[in-house]
Amino acid sequence: MSEAPPLLTYPNRAHEATHCDRMGVRARLLGVAAASAGKCRVLDLGCAGGANVVAMALDLPESEFVGVDLSSKEIATGHALIETLGVKNVKLSVANVMDVTRASVGGDFDFIVAHGLYSWVDKAAQAKILAIFGELLAPNGVAYVSYNTLPGWYTRAKARDLMLYHTASIADPHKKIEQGLASLKWLADAVGDTTSYGRDMAAELALLRATNEGYIFHEHFVDTSAAYFHEVAAAARAVGLQFLVESEATTTPLESLVPSVRDLLAKLDDPVKVEQYIDFVTDRRFRATLFCHADRKVNRVLDVGVVESGWISAACAIEGDALDLSDAHVTLASPQGARAQIAQPLLKLAFGILATRAPEPMTLAALVEATRARLALSPRASALADAATRLHAELANAILRLSMFGFVKLRGFAPKVTALPSERPIARPIAREQAKDDAIATNVWHETVGMTPIDRAVVQLLDGSRDRDALVRETKASRAEIEATLARMGRAGVLVG
Ligand SMILES: C[S@@+](CC[C@H](N)C(=O)[O-])C[C@H]1O[C@@H](n2cnc3c(N)ncnc32)[C@H](O)[C@@H]1O
Repeated sequence: MSEAPPLLTYPNRAHEATHCDRMGVRARLLGVAAASAGKCRVLDLGCAGGANVVAMALDLPESEFVGVDLSSKEIATGHALIETLGVKNVKLSVANVMDVTRASVGGDFDFIVAHGLYSWVDKAAQAKILAIFGELLAPNGVAYVSYNTLPGWYTRAKARDLMLYHTASIADPHKKIEQGLASLKWLADAVGDTTSYGRDMAAELALLRATNEGYIFHEHFVDTSAAYFHEVAAAARAVGLQFLVESEATTTPLESLVPSVRDLLAKLDDPVKVEQYIDFVTDRRFRATLFCHADRKVNRVLDVGVVESGWISAACAIEGDALDLSDAHVTLASPQGARAQIAQPLLKLAFGILATRAPEPMTLAALVEATRARLALSPRASALADAATRLHAELANAILRLSMFGFVKLRGFAPKVTALPSERPIARPIAREQAKDDAIATNVWHETVGMTPIDRAVVQLLDGSRDRDALVRETKASRAEIEATLARMGRAGVLVG
């Protein structure tokens, strides 16, 4: 396989679900003793411009990161990023996955990532990606592979096939995208919204319009494929791996499924079959799956000890007054669209405190203490005294469950972050660099945060050397705009000081 022609490059971004700490936490919740993110080795296959590993490496200086990609242009971008940021613990090289060996990447790994790669390569390379997992994963290692899944991807394939057919004679990638989207709009308008087909095409169009050219090009105008989850799981099993869990937040709680589906799933003892039936029911189109060695014991009852020893921060919006200690419920809304209600006054109070401090993480012990301290000041203190004694255990279980659905972030280490900008604010170094030529920043949770032109102008300058007056002078923005940017970037987990 030769290097791809340098058309549109894929956006050089980090992906939350690929973070080694997130993978490690998910594995430990299921009883697999994955390495600590603070001291581990990570391999990123098809790493493109390296932002994914560089962002992790900056927060985890004692861990080692290796990335390979077929494209010399992408790797050159990565080398420039490493050089600018002075990163010492990342090694990127040009390589085809087909040629990866233990010697070529310098040994075994605690975590191996293949994001946006499996569905982009042919069957031989897909088999090789899984073989690399089987051969190069440490005994308690965790591998991540994302891929387009059937049956949901069939819908996307219809839009894609039209766009490919309509633009077959166009070489220029910008024109291809423009004409491809125009043809999809033509189709959606022609079919109308009275049929599910028309609604699907309109939804696909809206989704693509909300993304960027690099994404659309690599999603729809290069060769890609899709597979059923059970097919990928079987291929992984053939090289000595087993399905662990999905890395992305769960969007389909079992309770949300109708009784006939729950009844069927309850009769199954194979997690792969359970997941596959859920994919049929939810028409799933994408997965980010974690695998581990088949000889590891996976405990499907989540280990609450991971909450006890970890760091927790709120990722959800809270609708209602969480701090009032009344019996009225509040609703938690996750970034993935999940919703959960909490009525227990002390659990509400704890989540309210966590949300007030977000994105800063707290330990469970500190959160329990802060909640009890606040309760002590309330007229309801004696009425809730019993509940206060049960708080530690109840909160741990609530966090355990809510973390799987993306309402709270559960981490194995405490990354540096602050919601409150100092007198001379400091942004994450990777964000300062990203702000120079992109409208996104990678935040403390390895998520992508959008930036306005003013945000970008400000974030680039946040190296701790400038106060507000200097920021006003150098950006020509108003004081109020500077404050708004700092507040927004602080809440979004982009600031460290
Ligand atoms: C869709 S991009 C995803 C990049 C990155 N992992 C991400 O998710 O942001 C796919 C990347 O895989 C690389 N690639 C494709 N085939 C490859 C191969 N056989 N060996 C190594 N890299 C490959 C491409 O050059 C490209 O950078």
